[in-house]
Amino acid sequence: MNLKITLLGGDGIGPEVLAQSVKCLQAVEETFNHHFTYTEGLIGAAAMDRFGTPLPQATIDLCRASDAIIFGTIGTLKYDDNPSAKVRPEQGLLQLRRELQLFTNIRPVKVFPTLVNKSPLKKHVIFGTDFVIYRELTGGIYFGEKKLSEDGTVASDLCEYSEKEISRIAHLAFKAAKGRRKKLTLVDKANVLATSRLWRKVVTRISESYPEVQLDFLFVDNAAMQMMLNPNEFDVILTDNMFGDILSDQGSAICGSKGLLPSASIGNEHAMFEPFHGSYPQAEGKNIANPVASILSIAMMLSHFGLYEESRAVVIAVDKSMRKHVVTRDLSATSKYGTSQVGDFIAGNIIDSDENLNYNYENIGLGKSTII
Ligand code: IPM
Ligand code: MG
Repeated sequence: MNLKITLLGGDGIGPEVLAQSVKCLQAVEETFNHHFTYTEGLIGAAAMDRFGTPLPQATIDLCRASDAIIFGTIGTLKYDDNPSAKVRPEQGLLQLRRELQLFTNIRPVKVFPTLVNKSPLKKHVIFGTDFVIYRELTGGIYFGEKKLSEDGTVASDLCEYSEKEISRIAHLAFKAAKGRRKKLTLVDKANVLATSRLWRKVVTRISESYPEVQLDFLFVDNAAMQMMLNPNEFDVILTDNMFGDILSDQGSAICGSKGLLPSASIGNEHAMFEPFHGSYPQAEGKNIANPVASILSIAMMLSHFGLYEESRAVVIAVDKSMRKHVVTRDLSATSKYGTSQVGDFIAGNIIDSDENLNYNYENIGLGKSTII
């Protein structure tokens, strides 16, 4: 298969972890005889420094012309610490999601058996955790009108959703649930918010087309608590932009390190793949960031294009790195391996063999069914 891939490293550790994903993709090309081309684009603080904008038009054009985008991370301390900055690096990512209409963000949360001890939660609580968050990505409070009074003492952010915005992601979430354990939990705050009540109405109506899927509802405060007490109860979580952002970070902590989990942002025409985690500016250039989330996001990309064996080979190589303790310091304080050594190991272990077919795939990383 030929694929045109845009690489957006962004800020902080983004370019470093992304470089490991490219190594792995090159290994996939060689092993499975594909041809991928890579073009780099600028976004975030890196773009602001050069062009004064976090999302230059050239980057948008590049993304539109490609089959897939692999994204690193965004944000720097310089802007985080300055609440009065007029433009922020994060706006580049938000605008890109909106421009490309990447309305569904898929975030699988699955505990690697080799890492159960890394979780802050007790083993018996997290054992078997395997759920996926379907987070709405181009609407809600993130994109509603923002106001600041002239004297700068009152601010507001509008949260708005239309039936159309809710139903397009709801259908994808129900389809995912159908292929999994057939349970969908809508997480909202319908006891307080009008938008949440609209979500309930639309999702309940759509559920009639998916009778095999059990639909239930949880208020977001309760969902946050249940995720800590009994993460096993979840299969597919469907939620809005803001709640999905918060719950997905919480979900990643369950797995032992924020550096492990990938995500896919999907629209009708474009797809972007990125880690859950942020730009971790304190680690920039130190070769200590965990590249696994980024590498697993290319596994999601490969599945997205129907390259299931290739995707499986990447996940198995990641699992092998954990079994052999070739991991970064977030997973093993005394590890001598850095970002690029872990990347080399994983890329070097991407193989096409019968061994992969017999692998107990259900026990590792990304369940196949969580991959679109
Ligand atoms: C994420 C990030 C982004 C978000 C930030 C960087 C704007 O936290 O992808 O979860 O809030 O969506
Ligand atoms: Mg987030």
